[in-house]
Amino acid sequence: MDLFDDLPPPSEAEHAQIAPGAVLLRGFARAGDAALLQAVEAVIAQAPLRHMQTPGGYTMSVATTSCGQLGWVSDPHGYRYAARDPHSGQPWPTMPACFLGLAQRAAAQAGYTDFAPDACLINQYAPGAKLSLHQDKDERDLRAPIVSLSLGLPAVFLFGSTRRKDPAQRLRLVHGDVVVWGGPSRLAYHAVMPLAEGEHKLLGRRRINLTFRRAG
Ligand code: SIN
Ligand code: FE2
Repeated sequence: MDLFDDLPPPSEAEHAQIAPGAVLLRGFARAGDAALLQAVEAVIAQAPLRHMQTPGGYTMSVATTSCGQLGWVSDPHGYRYAARDPHSGQPWPTMPACFLGLAQRAAAQAGYTDFAPDACLINQYAPGAKLSLHQDKDERDLRAPIVSLSLGLPAVFLFGSTRRKDPAQRLRLVHGDVVVWGGPSRLAYHAVMPLAEGEHKLLGRRRINLTFRRAG
């Protein structure tokens, strides 16, 4: 049995509220996926994906890079946003116009007008890669939401509350799904379960997630 058989089909779940201030926009980016993917590849060509070190001394299983005015960086000293890619010393690639448009449309659909992201973190998951439970809290102004776009292989996304110990919802995110969380859910704990093996027709054996943030 599929654990997700009880989820309504995409047409009924298009704008499902998952928590106060948090919305799942099922298939929101499916129509523009080819252009988004091309833009992802262009960013990666300029600022290659890499496995960052965590402050706790681990190497992340997820490979990351960024675009926009600020990029998210992790190293043995901590997590932070930086204006330059530490690998190249160069500014991060400009945020592609199709990224910005998608992020703003999704935020507006979820009730957040005037979203002006200055950072886009690109996460690439190969089968087995995961992201442990965390809050996105390195951003200066927590009034802006987080907009998260999934491309490629499906993943199980855990979305909890602002208390680490509370039970989390398990959401199956597929290619083109967008999740927006802000307001009372802005500091919700979330995680990604180890990616299952698979082959996606556009992306192959990987999942790419973009998170748009107002970081500075
Ligand atoms: C993140 O929390 O930064 C990424 C979430 C995801 O990959 O869906
Ligand atoms: Fe996160």
